[in-house]
Amino acid sequence: MKFSMSVNSKNKKGQELIIIPAHKTKNKKVVSNTNWPEEYRNSFSKIKASKSFDGSKGKTFLFPLENGSTIMAIGLGEKESLNFESLRCEMANVFKKIQHDHSEAIIKIEQFILEDDIEKSLASIVQGLMLAAYKFERHLTTKSETALKKIILELDNKNPKNEKLTKKAIHENSIVCESVNFCRDLVNEPPNILNSEYYAKLVEKDSKTLNRVKVKVLGKDQLKKEKMGMFLSVNAGSAYAPRLVHLTYTPKKVTKKTKHIALVGKGLTFDTGGYSLKPSGSMMNMKFDMAGSSTVYGAFRAASLLNSDVKITCLLGITDNAVNEKATMPDSIVKARNGKTVEILNTDAEGRLVLGDVLSYASDLKPDAIIDAATLTGAVLVSLGNEICGLMSNNDNLVEKILSSAKEADEYMWQLPIIEPFRKDMKSNIADLKNMGGSRFGGTSKAAAFLENFVDPKIPWAHLDIAGVGDSQSHLPYCPTKGASGSIVRTLTNYLLNQ
Ligand code: BES
Ligand code: MN
Ligand code: ZN
Repeated sequence: MKFSMSVNSKNKKGQELIIIPAHKTKNKKVVSNTNWPEEYRNSFSKIKASKSFDGSKGKTFLFPLENGSTIMAIGLGEKESLNFESLRCEMANVFKKIQHDHSEAIIKIEQFILEDDIEKSLASIVQGLMLAAYKFERHLTTKSETALKKIILELDNKNPKNEKLTKKAIHENSIVCESVNFCRDLVNEPPNILNSEYYAKLVEKDSKTLNRVKVKVLGKDQLKKEKMGMFLSVNAGSAYAPRLVHLTYTPKKVTKKTKHIALVGKGLTFDTGGYSLKPSGSMMNMKFDMAGSSTVYGAFRAASLLNSDVKITCLLGITDNAVNEKATMPDSIVKARNGKTVEILNTDAEGRLVLGDVLSYASDLKPDAIIDAATLTGAVLVSLGNEICGLMSNNDNLVEKILSSAKEADEYMWQLPIIEPFRKDMKSNIADLKNMGGSRFGGTSKAAAFLENFVDPKIPWAHLDIAGVGDSQSHLPYCPTKGASGSIVRTLTNYLLNQ
């Protein structure tokens, strides 16, 4: 689907579908349409049935103009109760309504502006449509047809500033949404196709299309050289080699003040649990256990294409967690990259083992901040539901920045604490650490308390547990009802671009 912009194109062919908002008048069962051009209001009121359309949410009303164009009035309820997220959702619903029957649609943007903020309104419009248009049909022999190919964002009045902002919004939000959709594609790909070696190759190939990005892929021998004993212990039972994808983006201008942000992602192409095998019901969908890595890659991708001013390192720790005769047995003690010894009580707590070594590698690069994303614990679903991303950190300043980036993206995120008793609970009596707490209570924070051991305490670090939000977000019309959501790519992109 392509977006373009036009200004007050009066000479319409008479075949257009024109989309406008309709609001409800406060406390009345009538539509408030004084914003509409006179021509629209006249055509609307000529139709008797228009009397029963009051602009309430979820309702739409179609009517023709004199020249034959069709107006689709989208009921959005009272204007005061709308916000940028509901606008995003309504646009996704519009897409679903028109995708099969129209090849082109015009959206009257000025009518949709909320809070006088054209940029944020446009972001919601483009994102709602483009994210809703996503389909994962690579493996279907018969693909569904989408008629809708072109969206024209139309301004009523010639206004150079608004024209510039509209073009910019189309450009930027298309890149962000393509990156969200790229992330979704990676997560949805099944594990027999997207194994560690193939995943690393795919990312390496895609990274060549980005701006000023260098890529290095470390294999088993290099991980051994790096002494990544935890990471390697997870890979021990796998038929595929582990991969650490190391991407670096350098901004156009680098000065002494240029910040350096490191992103780290959990890339478990499949999590069987290992010898601590998951029951079959819980194992289903564990192809999505690499969502953390594709989320950070999605944000890295967008930030590079949008020429972020900060230097960005992106590190993807990729393997599966499988079982064979060489797989790591529970009770094993392994040595982490930073020298700490870890008793592996449960081979299903594998994400923290991979991340720990990669976080230690990231710390050595001395970035100004490290953010990791991981589908780390089932417990985050218990504490925060599948709608909220868990955030844990060693630095309040970083927390504030990430939370405000999440708010800007309208993505839910909530901080969970790392407290002393949790740190204590992760200590073993026969090794420095153990990979699982004494009880399942507080599991999300305890996993973070474990990770903290591998981060240089001088570096601000934040951990995002996306085990809930990475998967199906069926309450969001701009996410597929089933499958990867691509959540948090937008939050992290905002964070990188706002530095
Ligand atoms: N990948 C899982 C976390 C997960 C579970 C994500 C359910 C989404 C849905 C992770 O590797 C895992 O298995 N964690 C264990 C940790 C436990 C053994 C300490 C968990 O959450 O049960
Ligand atoms: Mn696991
Ligand atoms: Zn896992």
